[in-house]
Amino acid sequence: MSDINELYAKARQAAASAYAPYSKFHVGAVVVADDGRVFTGCNVENAAYGSAICAEGNAISTAAAAGVRKIDAVVIACLNAGECYPCGNCRQLMREFGVDTVVVQDGVGSLRTHRFAEILPHSFGPDSLENNPK
Ligand code: THU
Repeated sequence: MSDINELYAKARQAAASAYAPYSKFHVGAVVVADDGRVFTGCNVENAAYGSAICAEGNAISTAAAAGVRKIDAVVIACLNAGECYPCGNCRQLMREFGVDTVVVQDGVGSLRTHRFAEILPHSFGPDSLENNPK
C-alpha cells in the first residue's frame, strides 16, 4: 500500500468534490484494491435526503465497476468534522469486498488505523452464506 498520509491526502482531495448542499458535511474516501489500484469517491447528496450516497459507498462502487473484488484498505477524510467513522451501511459494503483495514481521522491531526473486525464485529458477509445450509 502507498504511504498512508498520501492516501489520506487523496481522500481529502476527493472530499473537495463532495456534493453536500444539505448537510455541508464533505467526505472523501480512498479504496486500495488488492492489485494496488486506488479509487476515490465523495458523498453525493440529493433533495430526497434518503437518496444520498456516502463517500465510501461511492469509492467502493467505482472500484467494483472496475472489476475489483477484494479491497485491502479504505481511508476516509472529512473536511469539516473531527472524527469521521463510516456509517453502518458503508461498513457492510466494506464487508462484502473483504476490507482488512480502515483508516479514519481523529480530528486532532492524527489518523487511526483499525482492523475491519474492530469496527464491524460478528459481521455477516459472503462467507456466512457459504457456511450455512441452503
Ligand atoms: N457521510 C459519508 O459520506 N461518509 C461517512 O462516513 C459519514 C457520512 C455523508 C453522508 C451525508 O452526505 C453526509 O455525510 C452527512 O451524513
